[in-house]
Amino acid sequence: ESQSRLKAIIETAVDGVITIDSSGIMESVNPAAANIFGYEPEEMTGQNVRMLMPEPDHGLHDNYIERYRQTGVGQIIGKGREVLGKKKSGTVFPFFLSIAEVKLQGKVIFTGIVHDITDLKKTEEALRESE
Ligand code: HEM
Repeated sequence: ESQSRLKAIIETAVDGVITIDSSGIMESVNPAAANIFGYEPEEMTGQNVRMLMPEPDHGLHDNYIERYRQTGVGQIIGKGREVLGKKKSGTVFPFFLSIAEVKLQGKVIFTGIVHDITDLKKTEEALRESE
């Protein structure tokens, strides 16, 4: 049925898919997202999404979400942005983040799509250096 189809699609997606509740706690993490950040999905769910980012965002992310909830004005929602993520190993890497707000059964959750651009960046750099 449609729910298990949707589950299979998210489970096999190349991009990372992470959902958080309105306080930033990760509720679901697909295998690609866990793989990109170097964790097992169980190490991520139940934790605040700020574990996945370096400073200064690490210390500010709760405020970002709170500000959005107060003002309804998002900097990333509906536009996407290149940000820096931090892997379990400590490695900091660039990725393209898209966020959507989803109202589900009277509850607000946020869905984040994580598109790793490490290879793209390396190619760009190599091209620049070859000029
Ligand atoms: C806002 C960084 C992951 C949900 C923001 C902002 C930044 C940011 C810079 C906007 C701050 C501003 O200028 O106001 C990051 C970084 C991440 C990350 C570095 C690396 C892991 C996520 C994920 C989700 C998420 C995975 C959702 C599943 C939100 C929400 C907002 C926000 C709901 C407020 C709305 C908005 O500004 O569009 N984040 N974020 N973030 N982020 Fe994240």
